[in-house]
Amino acid sequence: MSAPLVISGATGAVGWHLVRALLDEEPGRPLRLLVRPSDVAPDARVRALFPDAPTGRDAVSVWPCDLTRLDLGLDRVTGRRLLDGAGAVVHLAARTDFRGDDLAGYLGPNVQAAVRLGHLAARAGVPLVHASTAYVAGDHAGTLGEDDLDLGQGFHNAYERSKWLAEEALLRLARGDGLRLVRVRPGVVLPDAPVAGIPEGPGPLAYLRLLANLRGQGRQEARPLRATGDPTGQLTLVPAAWVAAALRGVLALGPAAGPCYHLTSARPFTMTDLVLALHRAVPAVRLVPTPALPDPDPLERLVERAGAVYAPYRRLRARWHRARLERDLPALAQDGADAAWLDRVFAAHLAAWRAGPAAAPAPRREEGAVRAYFEAHLPPFRGRALIEGLRSLTQTFSITVTGVGRWRVAVAAGRLVDVEALAPDAPPAPVDYALAPAAFLEAVAGARSPQALFFARAVVITGQVAQGLATATALEEFFRRFPYRAPAGRARGRTA
Ligand SMILES: NC(=O)c1ccc[n+]([C@@H]2O[C@H](COP(=O)([O-])OP(=O)(O)OC[C@H]3O[C@@H](n4cnc5c(N)ncnc54)[C@H](OP(=O)(O)O)[C@@H]3O)[C@@H](O)[C@H]2O)c1
Repeated sequence: MSAPLVISGATGAVGWHLVRALLDEEPGRPLRLLVRPSDVAPDARVRALFPDAPTGRDAVSVWPCDLTRLDLGLDRVTGRRLLDGAGAVVHLAARTDFRGDDLAGYLGPNVQAAVRLGHLAARAGVPLVHASTAYVAGDHAGTLGEDDLDLGQGFHNAYERSKWLAEEALLRLARGDGLRLVRVRPGVVLPDAPVAGIPEGPGPLAYLRLLANLRGQGRQEARPLRATGDPTGQLTLVPAAWVAAALRGVLALGPAAGPCYHLTSARPFTMTDLVLALHRAVPAVRLVPTPALPDPDPLERLVERAGAVYAPYRRLRARWHRARLERDLPALAQDGADAAWLDRVFAAHLAAWRAGPAAAPAPRREEGAVRAYFEAHLPPFRGRALIEGLRSLTQTFSITVTGVGRWRVAVAAGRLVDVEALAPDAPPAPVDYALAPAAFLEAVAGARSPQALFFARAVVITGQVAQGLATATALEEFFRRFPYRAPAGRARGRTA
């Protein structure tokens, strides 16, 4: 039996694919998964993601942990038991969003946690396989070697910088404390198809969803849309299953593994490759990379804002050596990252999104609160101006709260004219907002702006997207002035 593997980040995109591959290809190998509690207990999270996994100390065991705690939530004894007899620690967990500009918010989960795990691994004499990123290259415009780290590069965001700092700190531990360290630097990892319960893939998939939402919304959207970027800029995109295979390959090398592997595609994708693939997937919209965006129209502004965190990635020049990967793991030289693969990835995601999420029933309390909003909170505003001075707003829209129901709301000259529940099979209004109960309650409580929810892809606007966004922006003021305080524990009402 192979030695147990300790894995952090199994509930993430890369970790899920690794654990899935291990369960399928190395059944019986004990896996110790470090999982943080969410509103669901770690055990239940793992059961939901890997329902067929055998459980127990000699199979899959779950170890509650939180990377943001100084001790990772593992006391001394638990930390020692965790690594007892382990073959390796595979550290994948990290804060991976690009939203925060403030490095401090990334240091705990991405740097200190890696160092803490590194200390535990060094003390136990267990090797650490650490997931970094190809984008430690930052703004380097040449080729990054597998042994390069500091090329004087700058970084595009706090995430990149934190991943670089983690590598630097772990290398110090390897030199000073004898940590056996292998770093892997994946490119942008795309799953072949969405996996329920796993975060949706990064950049290209965010664009795919945005374009799919704009698709066929009238004459305007059918023409080319300019977006800032360099048509010859390059990205490395890699299949998640290939990354999982590469991680298993690195683990199988054992002490023969080199210090760092680039899990990047043999051939990069240019921005032109990418926009062509997006256009093949969503023919009604065509992005046109442009150096600058003078006089953007509302949709161009919308796409630009929605993709703002990816702006630097649309102009990159970096490339990566991967000679060590090809020498040590020749079977992985073929990464499968080509145009046909990207077409399949996009098609699979579109098909899954069109089929819609399996609408989980809303928790009773949330369902009751949503109904109370439409049945008790909103009706007294009938005939009243929603916000003083908002005369320009005339729009009928529907709000679909997943798992609860759909309501039609009519506003004329800034006054609420009507609000009514729609039958489950009634068509949506020309503008429809679809969102989960929790996101809806955040918006109407004034806790999160409708725009922020849209950019976080927590609300999908279908129909006339530009009008929908303008209406949502106007209503934001109403939500702030008249925040909805959900009644506690309201029972489930009748269905719409
Ligand atoms: N995906 C890519 O394109 C890509 C590219 C290059 C490098 N990488 C690197 O590969 C690794 C995995 O990335 P990914 O895409 O799988 O990330 P992901 O989908 O965002 O998942 C992140 C994982 O880290 C866990 N995590 C985050 N904060 C935590 C905390 N405070 N305590 C415990 N666990 C925490 C998450 O747990 P929850 O489920 O509880 O949130 C989740 O399991 C990361 O190190 C990332 O930097 C990824």
